[in-house]
Amino acid sequence: MAEPEMRVLDRGVVERCVAAFDPLDVVESALRSHAAGSAVLPAEAYLEWSNHAGAHCRSVAMPGGVPGRDGLVYGVKIINAAVSNPSAGMERAGGVTMLFDPGTARPYLMADAGYLSALRTAAYTLLSVRHLGPQARESISLIGCGALAREHLRLFARYDPSITVAYIYDLDPSRIRGLADWAALNTPGITIVSCHSAAEAVAASAVVITLTTSRKPYIERDWLRPGCFVGHVSLDDLTENVFLEAEAVFVDDATLVRDNPRRILGRLMAEDKIRAAAGTLGEVLVGTRQAIRPHNGVVISNPFGMSILDIALLEQVARTAEETRLGSLLRVFGLCEDRWQPTNAGFSHCPT
Ligand SMILES: NC(=O)c1ccc[n+]([C@@H]2O[C@H](COP(=O)([O-])OP(=O)(O)OC[C@H]3O[C@@H](n4cnc5c(N)ncnc54)[C@H](O)[C@@H]3O)[C@@H](O)[C@H]2O)c1
Repeated sequence: MAEPEMRVLDRGVVERCVAAFDPLDVVESALRSHAAGSAVLPAEAYLEWSNHAGAHCRSVAMPGGVPGRDGLVYGVKIINAAVSNPSAGMERAGGVTMLFDPGTARPYLMADAGYLSALRTAAYTLLSVRHLGPQARESISLIGCGALAREHLRLFARYDPSITVAYIYDLDPSRIRGLADWAALNTPGITIVSCHSAAEAVAASAVVITLTTSRKPYIERDWLRPGCFVGHVSLDDLTENVFLEAEAVFVDDATLVRDNPRRILGRLMAEDKIRAAAGTLGEVLVGTRQAIRPHNGVVISNPFGMSILDIALLEQVARTAEETRLGSLLRVFGLCEDRWQPTNAGFSHCPT
């Protein structure tokens, strides 16, 4: 049997293929599969280091399997990040997601991971606001104005017409300006209000979404309005009291969150401190857990970020790419005998 070729999709192709389906439907379906126990979600592998400028760098490998049209779809997302990348004009996070042939286990498709990662994260927030957020809402507050903030604005503009104002804040004023300029062109239906502090932005809305790289909690309980929903997407923004006094805390996968010491909720769950009603958004979607919306307190949605959402989206992208013959086919596996020949030093490439 000949070694298969691998299809490689850059971001432009991924974005084109995403236009062919509804990403919220795909993410919701993967969450339902997970809640029904029909997805496979092993622990992630995490590697970290500091670069030459002393900035934090990390590589996360996240495997998973999720039901697709023809059975389980297996793959892995490798998402790396250096905190110093934005100052060099690059997105902080980037990587690749691969899909595996279920029969041979060979990777058959590799694609840019950054866009799908932001898309699936924002889609998860949209679904959690829809099912766990306040019924009456007109604005959102975004803390952190990077890549994820853009994708959140894009999806709120597309899926939630009740949101007409976004209060935004970032420690870096140039990123506030950058997001406001981007939004003026791309999400004109949402008015952007730039804030001077995180406290001002947090107090402005009943839907608050943290999208920062903070490694130290700073949002105090009394900054938040009564009846507030918080999408705690980044790892370490809410202080301990906000969790301890919450009306409810929802996650995507309790084991993954609990086993992760790099996020405040993981540490609190490992110490068995969370007393609020808790469950997963997937359970709410399949009806095995009652949704709790904020009344006078705070409801928190705190996703770990599951690989199966990336893999489910990528399967849809892969189908479109194959049908429309997009991407590049590379021969990666095995030795192609007509092009390589053995020498004393190993193999050398033969001109074709
Ligand atoms: N839970 C999930 O599913 C999930 C998925 C993907 C990414 N994330 C997390 O989301 C976060 C945002 O990702 P991104 O790609 O948009 O990052 P990014 O680097 O593009 O943007 C982060 C922004 O946060 C700002 N910031 C840092 N500390 C701040 C603070 N204390 N107050 C206000 N602003 C602050 C930075 O200046 C930067 O502009 C990261 O922490 C990432 O790990 C979570």
